[in-house]
Amino acid sequence: MKHEYKVSYQRFDNWKELPIEDHELVDRAYEVCKSAYAPYSKFHVGASLRMTNYEIITGSNQENIAYPSGLCAERVALFYAGANLPNEKVQTLCVVAKGDLLPIEKILSPCGACRQVMLETEVRQNLKYRIILVSQNGVAIVFNSAEDLLPLAFGITD
Ligand code: THU
Repeated sequence: MKHEYKVSYQRFDNWKELPIEDHELVDRAYEVCKSAYAPYSKFHVGASLRMTNYEIITGSNQENIAYPSGLCAERVALFYAGANLPNEKVQTLCVVAKGDLLPIEKILSPCGACRQVMLETEVRQNLKYRIILVSQNGVAIVFNSAEDLLPLAFGITD
């Protein structure tokens, strides 16, 4: 029997059309790209989290000459939140990327390892959170849950 997965998401031609409370989150994600340490890929990624206490946590990708030792922006931010705000939950996650090799209209799609961590954050906090992905030219797409980005995930039972 054939089964299907369907994921709905919203698309905004410009992230400024997002609800006003998201604007600072997008600004902060763009801003934190500047602190990326990416001498090898030259790909600068910024992630920002709106926590339930309204605090914003940010992270950027941090590379290493021993390549697998580096970490993506999303996980830098999520692990920082886990370590420093263990009693708060993530409400919204925003990710942006900048790089000469990245076409301006391309929306960064989080890697598989980050999706796994994003999902476990959601399961652990027992609260779904929004995920906003923004291209360099300002197009935004919004998902309502980390589960939407990782169907049939390891560790999730129906
Ligand atoms: N990167 C992220 O920070 N997030 C992702 O979701 C995908 C990739 C980083 C890792 C590495 O520093 C660079 O982008 C190129 O892969």
